[in-house]
Amino acid sequence: MSAFPKDFLWGAASAAYQVEGAYNADGKGPSIWDTFSHLPGATYQGTNGDVAVDHYHRFREDVALMAEMGMKSYRFSISWPRLLPAGRGAVNAAGVKFYSDLIDALLEHNIEPMITLYHWDLPQALQDEGGWEARSTAEAFEEYARLCYQHYGDRVKLWSTFNETVCFIGFGYITGGHPPGIQNPARAIQACHHVFVAHAKAVAAFRRSGINGKIGFVNVLQTHTPLSDSKEDMAAFHLAEGIFTHWLYDPVLKGEYPAALLEQAQTLWGVPQFAPGDEALLRDNICDFIGLNYYKRETIAANNQDTHLTMNTSGKKGLGHQQGNEFGFKGLFKFVRNPNGVYTDWDWEIYPQGLTEGIMSIKARYGDIPIYITENGLGAKDPIIDGEIVDDDRIDYLSQHIQAIEDAIKQGADVRGYYPWSFIDLLSWLNGFQKQYGFVYVDHQKQLARQRKKSFFWYQDVIKSNGAKR
Ligand code: BG6
Repeated sequence: MSAFPKDFLWGAASAAYQVEGAYNADGKGPSIWDTFSHLPGATYQGTNGDVAVDHYHRFREDVALMAEMGMKSYRFSISWPRLLPAGRGAVNAAGVKFYSDLIDALLEHNIEPMITLYHWDLPQALQDEGGWEARSTAEAFEEYARLCYQHYGDRVKLWSTFNETVCFIGFGYITGGHPPGIQNPARAIQACHHVFVAHAKAVAAFRRSGINGKIGFVNVLQTHTPLSDSKEDMAAFHLAEGIFTHWLYDPVLKGEYPAALLEQAQTLWGVPQFAPGDEALLRDNICDFIGLNYYKRETIAANNQDTHLTMNTSGKKGLGHQQGNEFGFKGLFKFVRNPNGVYTDWDWEIYPQGLTEGIMSIKARYGDIPIYITENGLGAKDPIIDGEIVDDDRIDYLSQHIQAIEDAIKQGADVRGYYPWSFIDLLSWLNGFQKQYGFVYVDHQKQLARQRKKSFFWYQDVIKSNGAKR
């Protein structure tokens, strides 16, 4: 017997740009990732999602594998420019049909769809008008959300608006590693505000639509630990908590920004600027649930130097956290290597207990909000032995994190589902295809043939036993 409720959703997740391919097929418009990934030097060895793992053409085969593994739910995202090639206005019927067919295929196998409306692939046409820095993008997002409700709301009950503001705003507007490649905190804060506005508008439209379902937001669950208990490191740690958790969760779970930080940002940079009605919009449209994506913990230290982050996109351990290659802000904080930590080859600390701690801290701050663990997984180069993919490290990683979720449930958290990242090996944004996460391997030398990994059979047992066998 496990502590998991009997209707617990054992799932897996993916995102449109990372799996679909067919980047210009059947009327799809370009996204900012289509543009960005074609720029020389932007991604690891020039990899892109033009073909990805061709899920667009092979989704029936993929759904059959999901069913065989026993998945009860599948979290996927919709590509906005596949539905609305210019971001608003003319609708691409072939795009609408693709997701409709995918949803039907899932339901035929009793797999509950969970839709993410935005997993980073903004229509390029909207970026050309200012992207998230333009308030009109929030209005276009509402139009897009309503289109999705209209076509899929009869069959889909679980929806989330955005995936991981910290990444697409943080990398997009602060470090500049993701599109649109800007490095300007003030512009980041205003863009982020428009995302919260877009979210609230989409939640309001969802409630007006009368769909019999729930709508939430997906955030990175970034747990922090101070490097030491010195006054300086503790202050840096509290600041990191404020920025990476309170700033990003409060607007969607409490309907307001954390007051002290808001005042500081507005004094320092004059942002975020509110339009009339924004405060009420945020306050009246908080989420039904929160999705938490947990991969790693960050160790936080005081910081008196300029820092510049070059991400480890090669999988050569130790490239992250080198002197001068630490993410941070001068005078505020930086992320450093935990001297006692266990790290992946991409320098992500493996710390399963952080998932229990993080869930409980969300519960402590936001009350009894329903929680889904919408991502969690190990990025690794999987060993192939005698033709079999023997991903024991992934099994260990996931097993320990399932334990961590069970611990949180025993401590009273309302966790309703678990979506490991990912169902299938996919394009890992800047890291190409070498950073594998899936239960299913894709052979890029053999016409993208699918192969079940050792973890596929292991997860099948986990699901069958409702988490008891792991
Ligand atoms: C999350 C994203 O940030 O982490 C996924 O929602 C992503 O899209 C995953 O793939 C792992 O990150 P990465 O950079 O290793 O692919």
